[in-house]
Amino acid sequence: MTHLSESLQFFTNHYDHFLQQYQALVRIPSVSTDPEHKPDLLDACEFLAARLRGLGAERVEIFPTQGHPILFAEKRSAREGAPTILIYGHYDVQPVNPIEEWGTPPFEPTISGEYLIGRGASDMKGQVMASLAAVESVLAAGHLPVTLKFLLEGEEEIGSPSLDGFIETHADLLACDIVLNPDSGMVTKDAPTIVYGLRGLLYLEMRLDGPKADLHSGLFGGNVANPANVLAAIIAKLHNPDGTVAVPGFYDKVLPITPEEKMRIASVRSDEDALLRITGVPQLYGEQAYSPLERTGARPTLDVNGMYAGFIGEGSKTIIPAYAKAKISCRLVPDQDPDEIFELIRAYITSLTPEAVRLSIIKHSGAPAYLADDAPGLEQLAAALEQTWNTKVSYKREGGSIPVATTMLKYLGVKSLLTGFGLPDDQIHSPNEHQHLPTWKLGVQALIRFFLSFDHAS
Ligand code: BES
Ligand code: ZN
Repeated sequence: MTHLSESLQFFTNHYDHFLQQYQALVRIPSVSTDPEHKPDLLDACEFLAARLRGLGAERVEIFPTQGHPILFAEKRSAREGAPTILIYGHYDVQPVNPIEEWGTPPFEPTISGEYLIGRGASDMKGQVMASLAAVESVLAAGHLPVTLKFLLEGEEEIGSPSLDGFIETHADLLACDIVLNPDSGMVTKDAPTIVYGLRGLLYLEMRLDGPKADLHSGLFGGNVANPANVLAAIIAKLHNPDGTVAVPGFYDKVLPITPEEKMRIASVRSDEDALLRITGVPQLYGEQAYSPLERTGARPTLDVNGMYAGFIGEGSKTIIPAYAKAKISCRLVPDQDPDEIFELIRAYITSLTPEAVRLSIIKHSGAPAYLADDAPGLEQLAAALEQTWNTKVSYKREGGSIPVATTMLKYLGVKSLLTGFGLPDDQIHSPNEHQHLPTWKLGVQALIRFFLSFDHAS
């Protein structure tokens, strides 16, 4: 038997063990944005550290940060001239609310048919555990033909505030030939995917303060500006009637989509029916001049993520609220600069705000878009995916954001292999998140092939 067939066999034989490990990680409620879950983030980090020690990693180190810890590990290859692959992952997850929409408890991973349901099952504990399962299977069947480094963070879902600085100051520790980042996903379950572009993100929050406390709307209504009304009026002016963003200057630096790029995007099967089914909307809505895949991959957006003002309980209460708040984010494309876009939005909203209320705007996080037509290891990864799925790889420009790809390019000088085994209907960031297990299995097999494809010696 070859090393490859033995590794694949080992994975098949121990599938239940790997699934249990995966479930054990999903069971830890590592919601990074919620301070109450801080100990759970450390738990998840220590769980992974223990797994990496179990794999015989020579170095496993937990670096505390201002926020949640960063885990670094290294498992060296004995082979002379073995390339170094840096595997990125995040062990934090998004909040679970609205909890009442979940059919099973989010942190009690449940297998239902072909799916594992639970927060983080797809984004991205499943992908982290797929990587570890592949490494363990390769090691169980022989030597490791590549040196592996792991960089696992607990703040991805809140914009990785500690990671940029860490990567900058630990560039030597993280030095590598190849970056594998499985935090992205697939086009469909039959289309193994490599992502070559991601949108950036700007996240901000605005607040309008009116009266010093909620007021009786009869006694004072008509004499004070209502922050909720004003907020609604401002938000209504953030878009033009055709759906484009109305912030002056917003599109100034947007790189137009070249004809070649249009063809490349069009080569990915895009199924409008699937979009309608996954989203449940009665009709798609977006810039008419662009296809759905162009809209998510290569066009910027501005969206209100949440609004809060006044009385939102059962029944009625006659008040003028003291304040109103909105959380707003923009998905950015090359060459939009998050800081510049923030200033443009701030200036525009300021110009729309009447003097009868006080405005404050804060920036939560910002990261530029990522676009690269190649990355070291691309050929090997594509071959591993194609052999596993027995079909061609789809190359996709994604709408989500993985800011670390840009950070690594900046400080390590290495472009990332962006892939992953989640599907568009996994309901990531949403209730009932799940991972399609047959796809996860193929993903592990593909990663085994990928690691072993560097074994030129045997
Ligand atoms: N894994 C996702 C991003 C993703 C999902 C990329 C599917 C491609 C396909 C990641 O965990 C994520 O959600 N990122 C955040 C980043 C933000 C908080 C800076 C996002 O895109 O909202
Ligand atoms: Zn996410």
